[in-house]
Parts: sequence; C-alpha cells; structure tokens
Amino acid sequence: MVEETLILIKPDAVAANNIGKILAIYEANGLKIIAMRMLIMNDQLAAKHYKEHIGKPFYEKLVTFMTSGPLVAAVLKGDNAIERVRSIHGATDPTQAEAGTIRKLFATDKTRNAVHASDSATSAKREIHVFFSEAEIF
Ligand code: PPS
Repeated sequence: MVEETLILIKPDAVAANNIGKILAIYEANGLKIIAMRMLIMNDQLAAKHYKEHIGKPFYEKLVTFMTSGPLVAAVLKGDNAIERVRSIHGATDPTQAEAGTIRKLFATDKTRNAVHASDSATSAKREIHVFFSEAEIF
C-alpha cells in the first residue's frame, strides 16, 4: 500500500551536516520526498506535534532539544512508507538500533537521535498537517 509519512531531521543531525546523507538514504530506499521545509520549532509547534507526550517525564528535555536549532521536516511517500521508514531509522535508543540504520549511523542518545517518523497511519495524517498544507505537498 502506498503511504505518506512525516519525518523530521532533528537539530543534532542538521548541526552535524547530515541532512544530505539522511535524505540520500530515503531516496536510495525508493521513497519520494513530496514536501520539505527547514524551520525552527517553537514551544507551540512542539506541543502540537508531540501532544501525546505532554506530561511525560522526558517532555521538557525533548522540547528543549527540538527547539534548540533548525530542523528539516519532510513528507515521504512510498510502499508501506510508515513501517519502512521506522525500520530504516532503527530503535529510538541508538544503543538498541541495528547496524546500518540512520540512528545507528548518526544518533547520540535517546534525545539526540537524529530523526523522527510518524508511528501509525493516524499519526502520519495528523503530523503531516502540523507542518504542511495540502498545497505544499506535491
Ligand atoms: S513513548 O513514551 O514510548 O511513546 O516514547 P518514545 O517513543 O520512546 O519516545 C518518544 C519521543 O521522545 C523522545 N524521548 C526522549 N527525549 C528525551 N529524553 C528521553 N529520556 C526520551 N525518551 C524518549 C524520543 O526521541 C522520541 O522522539 P521522536 O521525535 O518521536 O522520535
């Protein structure tokens, strides 16, 4: 099934000059970039995007990190994109991520973990529209 999913290249990966290397991995896996923007997340956008994590013990740390510098938001499209992108990313904790995954290659820890991806069709639909209007998706 062809799906669309939201990814974020997080501030640690942007600061480390890894935007191009990460985008190349998606493209090499046959995923199409159908929307993309560089931006700085503010507290309001973080609360909208991470609304299911508000109140969790790591929320403040997550938002402090995600608002600390520019990130790249993109929509990827392809067969089974939601599950496939999560597998390309690897585990949230890079010490648990498999060899060859983006987090194994580029992440530092559970916070500075290089990338985000939607975890279900429902969250993909919601998260895509947190960052992009219909007119910005090609
Ligand atoms: S949960 O509660 O199982 O849904 O959380 P999880 O999927 O592990 O992580 C959700 C996002 O929060 C980030 N995270 C953390 N940030 C800071 N500190 C700690 N301890 C921490 N644990 C998890 C994690 O990177 C996830 O970010 P996204 O952007 O969703 O990948």
